[in-house]
Amino acid sequence: MIKEFTLTDFVDVIMKSGTPKATKVNQVKTRPDYNPATDYYKKIRDLIIQIHKDDLDIDELNKIIPSVPENKKSEYSALLGRKCGLPEDHVELLYLASAMHDLGKIGIPDSILLKPGKLDAEEWIIMKSHTVIGAQSLANSRFRLIQLAESIARSHHERWDGNGYPDGLKGVEIPMEARIVSIVDSFDAMLSQRPYKKPMPFDEVLEIIRSERALAFDPAIVDIFLANIAEFQSVATALSD
Ligand SMILES: [Fe+2]
Repeated sequence: MIKEFTLTDFVDVIMKSGTPKATKVNQVKTRPDYNPATDYYKKIRDLIIQIHKDDLDIDELNKIIPSVPENKKSEYSALLGRKCGLPEDHVELLYLASAMHDLGKIGIPDSILLKPGKLDAEEWIIMKSHTVIGAQSLANSRFRLIQLAESIARSHHERWDGNGYPDGLKGVEIPMEARIVSIVDSFDAMLSQRPYKKPMPFDEVLEIIRSERALAFDPAIVDIFLANIAEFQSVATALSD
């Protein structure tokens, strides 16, 4: 069932998990506390090289990389990581690693991934496997960045109450970075337009995140997120669809 893992697939997943808004990106980059990751594209290219070190066409990569967009979820993840007190070098790793959280969706058939309606039970089981597929794609790296990406890819659908997947981890058993990405992933999904749904009003999104405090999400991180919500809203506005 798992498709062949190609470089183009990899870049495509990164692109799908972000929103190309070249004209608005500069507004975000001028935020005073923003870690500009000015070499964002270079770093993405470097990590692709790390993963594909044996069969890499640099010319092909150079053609693709400039089209990789800024990534809203990376912005949110880095901001939330910083607010949680992570050191700046780790925030930078989180910025890049979080871009790969749904990497495993390359292994999910389009008939499920792009299905406009609800998934049936069997499709849902396949969909959930994107966590494990992503982690397996990134496994056994000697690079901290890829190790972090593996951890986030595997655990970003775990829930604080233990009812998540794939491992049913509970509370602080879930890696902190995955607890961060879990919140921003939901935040972004609810605010985003999809073929089958409109964006949810901002207040409603916050209410749902608040209601999932200590259920889906780490309560302490939810509190930090809500205390700094204006900054998340600024990023959402600057990089809006
Ligand atoms: Fe996911």
